[in-house]
Amino acid sequence: HRFTIAAVPADGVGTEVVDATRTALAELARRGPEPFEITWREFDWGSHYYAEHGRMMPEDGLDRLRDMDAIFFGAVGWPTVPDHVSLWGLRLAICQGFDQWANIRPVRFLPGVRSPLRGTQGAQDRALDWVVIRENSEGEYAGLGGRNLSARGPGHEVAVQSALFTEAGCERIVRYAFDLARTRQRPKVTGVTKSNAQQYGMVLWDEVFDRVAEEYPDVEAERVLVDAMAARFVLQPESLSVVVASNLHADILSDLGSALAGSLGVAASANLNPERRFPSMFEPVHGSAPDIAGQGVANPIGAFGSAALMLDHLGLRAAAAALEAAIAETTGAGALTPDIGGTATTDEVTKALVDRL
Ligand code: NAI
Ligand code: MG
Repeated sequence: HRFTIAAVPADGVGTEVVDATRTALAELARRGPEPFEITWREFDWGSHYYAEHGRMMPEDGLDRLRDMDAIFFGAVGWPTVPDHVSLWGLRLAICQGFDQWANIRPVRFLPGVRSPLRGTQGAQDRALDWVVIRENSEGEYAGLGGRNLSARGPGHEVAVQSALFTEAGCERIVRYAFDLARTRQRPKVTGVTKSNAQQYGMVLWDEVFDRVAEEYPDVEAERVLVDAMAARFVLQPESLSVVVASNLHADILSDLGSALAGSLGVAASANLNPERRFPSMFEPVHGSAPDIAGQGVANPIGAFGSAALMLDHLGLRAAAAALEAAIAETTGAGALTPDIGGTATTDEVTKALVDRL
């Protein structure tokens, strides 16, 4: 049980929550239910690296990560670098370079965390327990398109941004969703597209979805349009279990999901290369939060949850479960950062978690 993990804290609160996670994992390794050992390799890439080198990571960055057992990522983005440059130069470069085509984002209530869904009349025990599965390698973020800056002078520029959908790409993510649904208390998959308005890629997705669904008669399957789905998230959260959608749609829906669960700060995610040909990457859903960075109040819960997903991926099921349990006990005991209604600092939440491991 020895693992070499790359730490890529990158920018803003990314560094704060990665530090907190390393502290928590060190304690878990020492005192948890199963022994393991992590050797961290720290990579100091991100927007500060860009300021010095004109790029977000070195040219051979992917090669340096290739032999790692996993990558633990903080968040990328800082006002000094255009967001599309920082995102494509680091996070998307890793996701796409290592074919991490399945992005897994669990959304659930945590004890003690107030939610816009739970605050309302008699809704204390409304269920919220989903996994949003995001296609993470193609779709709207395939990077296809271009700008014609000189077109016909100022005011006449045209830009094209195309989405790419392959049958194989749709099939593997839809199948992943159905396989995951089988392992859940509620075996149900909701497929989300906008196939009424986008008549090529999304219709292909729907057709693949229907075909795969037939192979899983034991799993309930339904298809919903993304706009209706945004409303369903808020109005009928208990009607969902596994939700599978394209890169863009699932990106947006999962942020909505984490807000419904209480805060972006509690949302965890995994970018998986399910074939395990390349390392997978684990990261909180949130960004670098420049508005609160450096104040010591970043919520580390999303990063802790991502670490639990990482341990699970590494085969450390008992350790992952122990970390999940400690997260729930920590929030349940009221150790909460300001974004979820508390006054605790990142360090205080980390200490509260460590005490419960
Ligand atoms: P953001 O997630 O950084 O912040 C949105 C809001 O949530 C802010 O009010 C922030 O204070 C709060 N928040 C986020 N994480 C938190 C945490 N751990 N604890 C407490 N509050 C938290 O999104 P925003 O502001 O749109 O983007 C800021 C930068 O992050 C941009 O450069 C953006 O490109 C980048 N970004 C990077 C992502 C990644 O690395 N995966 C994902 C999303 C954004
Ligand atoms: Mg997002």
